[in-house]
Amino acid sequence: MLIVIYLLYVKLSETIHINRLLGGRHLFLLNKAEKSPTFCINYSDKQLMNKSLLIVAHIPSPNTMMLRNAVVKGAENPDIEGIDLVVRTPFEAGPEDVLTADGIILGTTENLGYMSGALKDFFDRIYYPCLEVKQGLPYGLYIRAGHDGTGTRRAVETIVTGLRWKPVQEEALICRGEYRDEFKGECEELGMLIAAGLEAGIF
Ligand SMILES: Cc1cc2nc3c(=O)[nH]c(=O)nc-3n(C[C@H](O)[C@H](O)[C@H](O)COP(=O)(O)O)c2cc1C
Repeated sequence: MLIVIYLLYVKLSETIHINRLLGGRHLFLLNKAEKSPTFCINYSDKQLMNKSLLIVAHIPSPNTMMLRNAVVKGAENPDIEGIDLVVRTPFEAGPEDVLTADGIILGTTENLGYMSGALKDFFDRIYYPCLEVKQGLPYGLYIRAGHDGTGTRRAVETIVTGLRWKPVQEEALICRGEYRDEFKGECEELGMLIAAGLEAGIF
């Protein structure tokens, strides 16, 4: 919003100089004729530089809820700054969330050898609105599977390959078999990895 106001103002006033003063937290716009400050916007560097990380996770059970929360915890690691986290279920998420994301973490169960219907529905709704503009979007994937998970991994990878998103993991995380507490640590690491990579500008 501030940026839009700022750009409008620049256009209207034929501003020639922008001074960053007071530790970069004010914009002083110098009018061409008057050569004096005519307008000042107070903004924080954080607002301008934050990256948006979208988490879209299907959470149909207490275990899957814990895994999603672990991903969130990792992304919110206090050592990582400048990340705006958006957390949605696939039912809630839509193209507008993807279009504004700098990175995305997908979480799904495996059901009948495939991703959850919820995540598939999400892909169906975002595919064409995002296809052209979000190529290269860094993504991470975790799968909760009672005994396999490979069918889901293949299926998701087929779709994100079509979207030309960029994997940040060598291989998707599959939390396979009986539920174990160590899954939470792995999910937390995934959240941290992507948030830290976005913060550092690696992806
Ligand atoms: C209808 C249904 C189909 C399932 N199909 C698979 C499957 O094909 N492969 C698999 O590994 N797990 C399968 N599961 C197990 C789920 O992946 C698992 O229950 C889910 O991830 C939730 O994990 P939780 O039981 O730890 O909460 C299925 C579960 C349900 C309810």
